[in-house]
Amino acid sequence: MSAHLYRDHAPERIFSLQGRVVLLTGAAGGIALGLAKAFAAAGAKLVLADRSEAVHERAAQFRDAGADATSLTFDVTDEAAVRDAVEGTVRRHGRIDVAVANAGIIVRKHLLELPVEDWKRVIDTDLTATFLLAQQAAKQMVPQSSGRIISVGSIMNHVSRPLLTAYVAAKGAVSAFTRALAADLGGTGVTANALAPGYTETPFSQAGQKDFRDFITEWTPARRWGKPEDLCGAALLLASDAGAYINGHTLYVDGGFLAVTR
Ligand SMILES: NC(=O)c1ccc[n+]([C@@H]2O[C@H](COP(=O)([O-])OP(=O)(O)OC[C@H]3O[C@@H](n4cnc5c(N)ncnc54)[C@H](O)[C@@H]3O)[C@@H](O)[C@H]2O)c1
Repeated sequence: MSAHLYRDHAPERIFSLQGRVVLLTGAAGGIALGLAKAFAAAGAKLVLADRSEAVHERAAQFRDAGADATSLTFDVTDEAAVRDAVEGTVRRHGRIDVAVANAGIIVRKHLLELPVEDWKRVIDTDLTATFLLAQQAAKQMVPQSSGRIISVGSIMNHVSRPLLTAYVAAKGAVSAFTRALAADLGGTGVTANALAPGYTETPFSQAGQKDFRDFITEWTPARRWGKPEDLCGAALLLASDAGAYINGHTLYVDGGFLAVTR
């Protein structure tokens, strides 16, 4: 039997995002760079969104590299702005195939010193905004009978560390919310999954602090911190036809961090 009989399952076909429209939040940040590279390389049209104006420069870099990329600024906790962004994406491109809730913040304070304002800010950004994007994206995707909702989580979806009460609560709920999305969207052709990085070198992480950096490096079976590009394969899996039967799942990309203890 010759290999061409299996061409329907060829990686260049099942992992392709050719012509697919991807809306990515937190797109000016570190993790987003890896995600956007993967989507662009697979042929997607990128709509890069962030509250920071730096996202426009990021989109320009992707256009310089040959990608179809536009940019928007809005706050992901603003329901009307999220709706406008999703509807604007559909007006511009005719559809939305992949929505990635990646924008996130972290507050490092002890439980006994955590003002409720900080708690709410983290829950709003890391959890409620995930709901807002998923809901608006699903309103467009369900009539299309296809779509991929990806929420960026963390190893803190599953474990905890001191000083991260609000972040751990929000990220843990992202996994639960992802399961709930899979349940409500069953039979629609829309899937929902969480992509959960381990310690990854970005401005968000504490990779610059030598003692902590060494501690995490030693703990992690891969013996290094993650890079945003380490997420490319998993992001493509969840966004493409290759991931059609993966639903309600949290995929950890952590160099084995969660597999071992100290
Ligand atoms: N870096 C890590 O080690 C790590 C590990 C696990 C999970 N994560 C997750 O990855 C995601 C991205 O993190 P990162 O490391 O790239 O951080 P980052 O700080 O580099 O990027 C986050 C981006 O989100 C944007 N943002 C924050 N609040 C926003 C809001 N309300 N509206 C619009 N945009 C907003 C910021 O402007 C920033 O560009 C987060 O959800 C984070 O929890 C990061």
